Amino acid sequence: MSSSSDNGESSLNLSVSFAGIDLKNPIIAASGTFGYGVEFEDVVHLDKLGGFVVKGLSREPMIGNPPPRLWETAAGMLNAIGLQNIGAPAFLAEKLPKLQQMKNIVVLANVFGYTREDYERTIEILNDGEGIAAYELNVSCPNTKCGGISFGSDARMLFDVVSAAKKIATRPLIVKLSPNVTSIPEMARAAEDAGADALSLVNTFVAMAIDPETRRPRISNVTAGLSGPAIKPIALRMVWEAANAVKIPVIGIGGISTAEDVVEFLLAGATAIQVGTVNFWDPCACETLVGSLEKWCLEHHVEKMADLIGGLQLEPPELSA
Ligand SMILES: Cc1cc2nc3c(=O)[nH]c(=O)nc-3n(C[C@H](O)[C@H](O)[C@H](O)COP(=O)(O)O)c2cc1C
Repeated sequence: MSSSSDNGESSLNLSVSFAGIDLKNPIIAASGTFGYGVEFEDVVHLDKLGGFVVKGLSREPMIGNPPPRLWETAAGMLNAIGLQNIGAPAFLAEKLPKLQQMKNIVVLANVFGYTREDYERTIEILNDGEGIAAYELNVSCPNTKCGGISFGSDARMLFDVVSAAKKIATRPLIVKLSPNVTSIPEMARAAEDAGADALSLVNTFVAMAIDPETRRPRISNVTAGLSGPAIKPIALRMVWEAANAVKIPVIGIGGISTAEDVVEFLLAGATAIQVGTVNFWDPCACETLVGSLEKWCLEHHVEKMADLIGGLQLEPPELSA
């Protein structure tokens, strides 16, 4: 996206590139908060967004957890949807053809599984679909063959699943890191060593809420993932750590809702960002954010995203005389 200055010259360019993918701006709608994209067609100009990530796909359809699955917290949201989805074959048959008819959109497919073979099979299925720019691997799921430990919380397991996915994927592979780990740099390096083309982080934080009246959990699954503004400062720290630990591009996610939030993540080292929970409060949030980022950049004389990416200043400001 370019904007004209007073003398008519084009001055602002919001475009970014990572893993060989060109985006017209760095704003991407996050997986699980934007359906399969097609549901938003009537309310959002999908071609105004940098891109969108579809709901996590598995090899077969999944019905997810029983209700209640959502609970609003003071500054965020708890969810335990249980990765409900129509399955990769139905995505190719029912959703992708509609997306293929839309011009100038970037579709990213989020993939998950409970075994390494699940990931491999789902990617194999998706490889047959036209019009997917990249895969985003959700590694926050429990590995049912390894006692239910999440793939993304053990560096060796993460390396194995990413290496296996990379061998099969015919498209760039973005690995979406879990924040529920002791060391983000260790996980970021494991994914990079296994061949990831980019990282995205963070997924939700394991959390819970209890109804004091009934003494029962607010969510049927008992624990749930916390997202939204509450997690932003922690996510920002993790993105900064990851960006300093690896050479591959990093996509920042976590509580982003304003242009200032976007700029913070870019300064911390993110090449692009994803917007999740705020889509539930305002389905047009991503499109609005593109406009506010453009305004912020014009007001701050920023002409291109490279002027912001990794621009965090650690030197103390010069003392005025
Ligand atoms: C209701 C809901 C469903 C989600 N489903 C997925 C999913 O299918 N796959 C995935 O990788 N992340 C999923 N996420 C995580 C988001 O993509 C995002 O990483 C997280 O919510 C943090 O960003 P936010 O604070 O902007 O929401 C989901 C989040 C929410 C709130």
